[in-house]
Amino acid sequence: MCGIIGCAGDDGDMVPTLLNGLAKLEYRGYDSTGLAVSGSDIRVVKREGDLDELVGTVDSEFDRGGAAGIGHTRWSTHGKPSDENAHPHTDCAGRVAVVHNGIIENYQLLRDELQSLGHEFESETDTEVVPHLIGHYLDTGLARKDAFRRAVEKLDGSYALAAIFDDHDEVMATKKDSSLVLGVGDGTYVASDVTALVGHTDTVVHLHDGEFAFLTEDGYTIVDESGTPQSKTGTEIEWDAESVTKGSHDHYMRKEIHEQSNALRECLRDRFSTGDSVSLDAIEDGYRPESVHLVACGTSYHAALYGAKLLRKRGLQAQAHLASEYALSPPPVRDGALVVGVTQSGETADTLSALRTATAEGARTLALTNVVDSTAARECDDALYIRSGPEISVAATKTFASQLVTLVLFALQSSGGSSDEAERLVSALTELPEHVQRLLETTAAPTTARRFADSSGYFFIGRGVQYPVALEGALKMKEITYEHAEGFAAGELKHGPLALVTEDTPVFVSVVGDDETARKTVANAKEVKARGAPLVAVTDGVSSIDRFADEVLTIPRTNRTLAPILVNVQYQLLAYHTADHLGRDIDKPRNLAKSVTVE
Ligand code: AGP
Repeated sequence: MCGIIGCAGDDGDMVPTLLNGLAKLEYRGYDSTGLAVSGSDIRVVKREGDLDELVGTVDSEFDRGGAAGIGHTRWSTHGKPSDENAHPHTDCAGRVAVVHNGIIENYQLLRDELQSLGHEFESETDTEVVPHLIGHYLDTGLARKDAFRRAVEKLDGSYALAAIFDDHDEVMATKKDSSLVLGVGDGTYVASDVTALVGHTDTVVHLHDGEFAFLTEDGYTIVDESGTPQSKTGTEIEWDAESVTKGSHDHYMRKEIHEQSNALRECLRDRFSTGDSVSLDAIEDGYRPESVHLVACGTSYHAALYGAKLLRKRGLQAQAHLASEYALSPPPVRDGALVVGVTQSGETADTLSALRTATAEGARTLALTNVVDSTAARECDDALYIRSGPEISVAATKTFASQLVTLVLFALQSSGGSSDEAERLVSALTELPEHVQRLLETTAAPTTARRFADSSGYFFIGRGVQYPVALEGALKMKEITYEHAEGFAAGELKHGPLALVTEDTPVFVSVVGDDETARKTVANAKEVKARGAPLVAVTDGVSSIDRFADEVLTIPRTNRTLAPILVNVQYQLLAYHTADHLGRDIDKPRNLAKSVTVE
């Protein structure tokens, strides 16, 4: 969703600092951007469109300095993308400017009240009530901090807020159900997430719901709701400045696809104890959940589907749930139930909400996440990190691979006991990063993508553990190409979707090995072929599929359980090269945002 940044101090480089922070946060939303800097008055500049629009305007209208500043990159909820609806918003007198991530649920009521008091609004946003409320309390004679706190007390909903005042060198910030982190370097910073602060500071502090932070060039103070000062321990940032750049790649997505073998190495590092047994810090040895519910959204839900299949195969009761549906009909939480939130960012509102429902029902909770100390990590009983490093492109790639591998590790540890099958899986896991690397070096996906780039639609089919990656292959394709794509369980095609198949809709099928599952999938692929659709097989070359497929994308031979990770790398590359051919904005696909912090 929206990204916010605030800065106090920073040695006369306020505007470049804010723009730099916004560039790192742009993946959270990019339909408009803006910044405000305080001096004797507040200067605001904001533009519809992406950050380049703002940069062009700032260059001609702003000098570099300022005592305190805030910036915003928007993903619209209330009001279309426009200059007027872009943040920051100010009160009528221009004494305070505010940036916001979240939704103010009671904004209409507050707006009506403020309008009846004579306040005039310039935007359609929910956010604009906040500076007007602060302005209202300033009018009643309250000091700035008290006006800020009193205004926040009136808000219902979710928010991360940062505010600056005219003729004042402080940034004020607070949050509820939206993340905010603080850091100190050349200046003092607040931002929606760690990514924006990489390179500015080595350590961040996470603000908790209801806390207020006051930033000056000398550092920050934090108080709780009652005004009591809070002292907090910082979390070290493990990501370096290089990891949040594109490096030599045209797009973050391409870079992140190519980082997968290293990400998997990192994911596996130190996670085996004696011999072949898995040992994860997050879970005590010998822990056996009675049942496991995995809750997640989007790509992470596809990882959850895979995890549930694996856990069931290992003898545990397990089911994946769409997080946004979980609270509506939560499955009964019996003794010994574990609810796992699978979430790369650890900030997805739907997933956090499902986890909170599970906690209220008495379940133990586990966050399977990429971001250390994210909200999910902090709120769950335990956190199991996937260790992918920062992922900037809106389309999740390397984090999906790391989620699958972490779920394999989790399934091995929580199902316990050694077996030949577990031993084979562990041995295949250690070879997996090398297999991914080989696939990246030899893939024919760019050629295949170009051949089918003008198709009218794309279908992906797979059986068993290949089904979640059929869904994921289709999601990646539609997300960044804007073309119609669907994933189906291979056996389900003949029950309806086959009607959609034509000679202009390539069907991608993954077939691994030559067991009964593979043979049934081959039969489904033949049904597609018989109806004239081009067939692309992603296969390890063991079955007969490559004899009649129109194109073959090869994956290295590996354990069947792990093969979906390799198949998915081919699907990621197909989507990437198709989108590139079509000239799409690959890292920032229209209408989307990476971190979805509203329900
Ligand atoms: C995938 O490419 C998307 N970015 C999206 O589906 C994403 O996986 C989903 O919003 C969940 O995000 P999370 O893993 O951060 O919770």
